[in-house]
Amino acid sequence: MTTQTPLVKTTGLKKYFNVSKKLLHAVDDIDLEIFPGKTLGVVGESGCGKSTLGRVILRLLEPTSGDIFYDGENITKYRGSRLKEIRAQMQIIFQDPYSSLNPRMSVAEIIAEYMIVNHVYKRKTEAFSQAAKLMDLVGLARRYANLYPHELDGGRRQRIGVARALSLNPSFIVCDEPVSALDVSIQAQILNLLMDLQENIGLTYMFITHDLSVVRHISDDIMVMYLGQCVERARADELFDNPLHPYTKALLSAIPEPDIDARNKEIQIIRGEVTSPINPPAGCRFAPRCESATEKCATEAVELVDRGEGHFVACAKMD
Ligand SMILES: Nc1ncnc2c1ncn2[C@@H]1O[C@H](COP(=O)(O)OP(=O)(O)OP(=O)(O)O)[C@@H](O)[C@H]1O
Ligand SMILES: [Mg+2]
Repeated sequence: MTTQTPLVKTTGLKKYFNVSKKLLHAVDDIDLEIFPGKTLGVVGESGCGKSTLGRVILRLLEPTSGDIFYDGENITKYRGSRLKEIRAQMQIIFQDPYSSLNPRMSVAEIIAEYMIVNHVYKRKTEAFSQAAKLMDLVGLARRYANLYPHELDGGRRQRIGVARALSLNPSFIVCDEPVSALDVSIQAQILNLLMDLQENIGLTYMFITHDLSVVRHISDDIMVMYLGQCVERARADELFDNPLHPYTKALLSAIPEPDIDARNKEIQIIRGEVTSPINPPAGCRFAPRCESATEKCATEAVELVDRGEGHFVACAKMD
């Protein structure tokens, strides 16, 4: 048992959107803990609520209910200067650096921007000299400082995004599909950069992706989401070695195998219709697509249950 305080914790976190007078359950009762210096991988299909979860934790979106704790403090109701202070400690790196970087600003201006806006230094020149140091830190040659985002390739653009996220000296970073838009060869470089930074600065990450193969090495723990809910959560190796939820098994079976002998493995195609996140039914949301589902699955709520050593699964078929 650890007595350490989680850097980030949520309890019963919900975010519902009003969509034509109905409620879209984007994030539906999420409990999570991320300890200092660790990475929680958050995996699931498009639309399952990964980005919304990240944004609610960062207080960029108001939660519908539930609580968010940062380093033991309940920050759910923070406003004004307290919120601003806490937000500086939590940053986000986006999927598509191109659309999140202002095309009319140079690399150095983009990296210095948050420091200038937040008056971190008395003089702008100090912010720019710190930007140059951040470029060194993320492996961007200083000769790129006066170029514009479109003049750089995707990998270098993502390095700008990383440098900017680091500029206010945060402890926690939500990495929202940071490598999904990059070529496979470049993906590994950015993942290595993020892991090196974590080791050297002691950063804590929530790493969001729809691609399970990307998160294995970077994550300490992995949470699998389906339509706003957590269906399975475990240590990363445990989840890969011993997946228990039918949805996780199907996601894992879809990962391409580099090993030729393993290529004949059966790929489980997930069939059936995705349940609507608008006013979803009470039962298991994966039931309509689950090969093992019984009638009970579609109607009775499922609880996330610890199956041993922190391996949580929400599946009635396991009882
Ligand atoms: N501002 C909004 N208003 C209404 N619905 C929203 C809003 N933002 C997100 N949603 C809905 O909430 C659900 C979760 O969206 P979210 O973007 O968090 O998913 P995601 O897992 O990040 O998907 P992706 O992998 O495509 O990025 C989706 O059904 C989406 O349409
Ligand atoms: Mg998203």
